[in-house]
Amino acid sequence: MPKALLLLAVLLLAARLGRTQQPNDSLTTGQPLLDGQTLISAQGTFTLGFFPNGDNTYLGIWFNNMKPRTVIWVANRDAPIKGGNGSLTLSTNSLDLLDRRGNSVWSSSSFSTNSPQAFLLDSGNLVINDSMLSEAPNPLWQSFAEPCDTLLSGMTIGYDKSPTIQYMQLKSWKSVSDPSTGSYSITLDPRRRPPELLLFNDTTLLYRTGPWNGQGFSGQPYLKTTNKLAFNMSVHDDSAYYSFTSLDSSVQWRFVMSSDGLAHRWYSNPSNDAWVEYWHWPQNQCDSYALCGPNAACYNDVCRCLQEFVPKSPNDWNQRNFTGGCVRNALLSCSSANGFDRLQHVKVPDTLNAIMVGGKSLDDCKELCLKNCSCSAYALLGGSNCIVWSGDLVDVVLFVDGINDLYTRVSHNNPSHPGPSVATIVSVSIVGVLLAISAILGFCYHRSRQKHLPLALEQDHAPGSKPAAKNLDLDGIRVATNNFANQNCIFSTRSRTIFKGTLPNFGDLAVKRLNTEVGHEELKNEVKMLARLEHPNIIRMLGSCIGNNENVICYEYMPGGSLDAVFFGMYFL
Ligand SMILES: *[C@@H]1O[C@H](CO)[C@@H](O)[C@H](O)[C@H]1NC(C)=O
Ligand SMILES: *[C@@H]1O[C@H](CO)[C@@H](O)[C@H](O)[C@H]1NC(C)=O
Ligand SMILES: *[C@@H]1O[C@H](CO)[C@@H](O)[C@H](O)[C@H]1NC(C)=O
Ligand SMILES: *[C@@H]1O[C@H](CO)[C@@H](O)[C@H](O)[C@H]1NC(C)=O
Ligand SMILES: *[C@@H]1O[C@H](CO)[C@@H](O)[C@H](O)[C@H]1NC(C)=O
Ligand SMILES: *[C@@H]1O[C@H](CO)[C@@H](O)[C@H](O)[C@H]1NC(C)=O
Ligand SMILES: *[C@@H]1O[C@H](CO)[C@@H](O)[C@H](O)[C@H]1NC(C)=O
Repeated sequence: MPKALLLLAVLLLAARLGRTQQPNDSLTTGQPLLDGQTLISAQGTFTLGFFPNGDNTYLGIWFNNMKPRTVIWVANRDAPIKGGNGSLTLSTNSLDLLDRRGNSVWSSSSFSTNSPQAFLLDSGNLVINDSMLSEAPNPLWQSFAEPCDTLLSGMTIGYDKSPTIQYMQLKSWKSVSDPSTGSYSITLDPRRRPPELLLFNDTTLLYRTGPWNGQGFSGQPYLKTTNKLAFNMSVHDDSAYYSFTSLDSSVQWRFVMSSDGLAHRWYSNPSNDAWVEYWHWPQNQCDSYALCGPNAACYNDVCRCLQEFVPKSPNDWNQRNFTGGCVRNALLSCSSANGFDRLQHVKVPDTLNAIMVGGKSLDDCKELCLKNCSCSAYALLGGSNCIVWSGDLVDVVLFVDGINDLYTRVSHNNPSHPGPSVATIVSVSIVGVLLAISAILGFCYHRSRQKHLPLALEQDHAPGSKPAAKNLDLDGIRVATNNFANQNCIFSTRSRTIFKGTLPNFGDLAVKRLNTEVGHEELKNEVKMLARLEHPNIIRMLGSCIGNNENVICYEYMPGGSLDAVFFGMYFL
């Protein structure tokens, strides 16, 4: 008899242990989740549980299979549980996080229901709904409505002005291990239309993506929707929301406002469950908000005044202190004889001092600007949104690709003495650098087809400094190769990968990207070797770009029969 009792006890214990270890994706009233226990989403993608940082304990959601632990949401980031033994309980009014004494450290917004249920979904969302009600479109509460530092596929950030202004924004962790709220944030500002993402360090604006133009952000021409990832901005009178959607269920994406001050977009490599960085911003100096000051444009780390503008403080300007920006070289007399200078592939200026009028054509938009003497520039975004600026034009950036043009007001329709616009400086220097490269490499550009490579502007060198090794613009190469996308990869070894790229004004090119460890020496040797080898079957090198952790060489792309030779040659060279 005692033996049977013992057996029963063992069986009961085993059953109990078995149950607590079984993955469970839901929580009901009366069954709290204790420190040490977890919920796991149905397909095993996400885990909800407690995690420590020093003496502090947090309730969070993380990827179940990624190592190290990648936390995407924290309930109590600024109210840690001290001394462990916290618990999560679901009541008919709220979801509550309690410390070991039973004091609440965090609560969801309140709701009222008789039979609540919490589910951890495979999207990473923790939702509460009512098990008695028929399927309702909106949960009673969801963690996606309270983002921390991470945006997942299907999550949104943005604002809603009614009834009172509410922001959903991303806020960085304080450090890599400390989830408490750090100083960096990504937000949408209702004053800027069309909406754009802004990156702040506390209240200092560090970077703006440029307004949404229907396809992407005006300041990120290289980030386009692909077959893996779609970007979406939904705009209404009182609200605007940004989101992205992963189109390949085998790949996880996360967009994070990191504690390093950069916004990173990562994807999971399904073969080894490791994170790969897809992109981060800000990317370069031109991305720094208003680096060039008012009425100037930034291209490849160099500032130029807009047409009919000159540096406000030439001494500062010549010492590469651009903060003062540029002023008009002569008073503009407002008249219908005024014209416009067209800048192509731009991040349009900050729209804080602009107004947006919908349903306009490009000509309507020009008229609107011409009629108003305070109008300094106009642009048409997303097909029919006319933006007209008054006063200074701040934070203009030029790219080698992009769909947005900016028209800045100049004194005459056909200027008799046109000052060098940014566009002409860029194209003149492209020709200059092209000639220089062809001379150095002994190449003869005998083709009649005109080609435009994304060459970097010649830098202004400080006296005594070495000339820049960079002659191709990395952003341009990124555009050409879809940011070195896998589908553009045509050959890969451990030390190098070859991509096929396409540029609108150039055509196809082959891009070889060397691992950073390969180093500058090897790249230089390759450049020398290529210069010696002049043979019709050996592809031409078009230029290179070294630095910024990138070693890239571009070649002419030879389709068809000579392709093998191309790969063979590039592999061994
Ligand atoms: C999961 O938890 C709920 C309530 O918390 C319980 O009713 C259910 O039996 C559990 N499921 C499993 C598989 O353990
Ligand atoms: C948690 O509770 C258990 C039992 O009540 C206790 O033994 C343990 O020391 C507690 N842990 C902490 C960190 O307080
Ligand atoms: C509550 O949410 C879960 C998880 O999404 C879902 O399976 C269930 O059908 C929902 N229940 C109701 C009543 O909406
Ligand atoms: C953000 O602000 C802090 C404090 O002012 C400063 O130390 C830090 O360098 C800033 N970060 C960036 C990226 O500017
Ligand atoms: C974009 O978001 C809106 C509103 O959320 C939605 O109606 C639309 O289907 C989304 N578009 C895409 C391409 O995801
Ligand atoms: C940069 O120039 C501005 C005015 O153009 C001046 O006020 C500022 O002191 C300068 N900064 C440095 C570091 O020289
Ligand atoms: C001219 O532009 C300014 C600034 O955008 C605006 O405040 C003003 O109403 C406009 N005037 C007319 C007549 O449209």
